[in-house]
Amino acid sequence: MIVRDARAGELRLLADTVAGQPLLERYEMSADKLERELTAALSRGDQVLVAEEGGRAVGFAWFLATGTFGGGGYLRLIALEPGCEGKGLGAALCDEMERRVSLGSRNLFLLVSHWNAGARRFYAQRGYQEVGTLPAFVRPDTDEVICWKRLR
Ligand SMILES: CC(C)(COP(=O)(O)OP(=O)(O)OC[C@H]1O[C@@H](n2cnc3c(N)ncnc32)[C@H](O)[C@@H]1OP(=O)(O)O)[C@@H](O)C(=O)NCCC(=O)NCCS
Repeated sequence: MIVRDARAGELRLLADTVAGQPLLERYEMSADKLERELTAALSRGDQVLVAEEGGRAVGFAWFLATGTFGGGGYLRLIALEPGCEGKGLGAALCDEMERRVSLGSRNLFLLVSHWNAGARRFYAQRGYQEVGTLPAFVRPDTDEVICWKRLR
């Protein structure tokens, strides 16, 4: 498995690969919408890392390297192809994101849905603290938990 920068020409396939992830369905993120969002992200200069396994991109981490609360990185979205969870791909994507963000910033932030117990355990294990909640920030039925990691 390798982690590398996403290429503009692969975003359609990547979006199709990942869009069946229940988290994305719950946020009404179709493959078309995800492709548009990732394309706009790359053209704005956001970073998108992909995890490639057997020559196929099977997951991504989309993040901003700085700017959050004046100076922190922000993980906008991480998702894997359904069935690819629990094999270390998420950890490898986060390792590389944290390495890159730490070059210019001491802090990394992300939001996680209050009901996403698996992801909340994943981040807690990686040293993210839950420091607050944004009630119904994105969806009326979901609170977003603010997670913060001091990188250095
Ligand atoms: C959350 C996500 C990125 C984690 O990536 P992953 O590749 O499944 O996780 P890894 O295999 O790298 O796991 C690393 C550690 O976290 C733990 N972990 C991962 N997913 C977990 C889960 N659902 N529940 C409990 N622990 C979990 C593992 O036990 C592992 O610890 P270990 O190495 O000590 O055994 C991935 O499962 C995913 O894309 N989920 C669906 C989308 C999502 O929820 N995204 C987060 C939005 S904020």
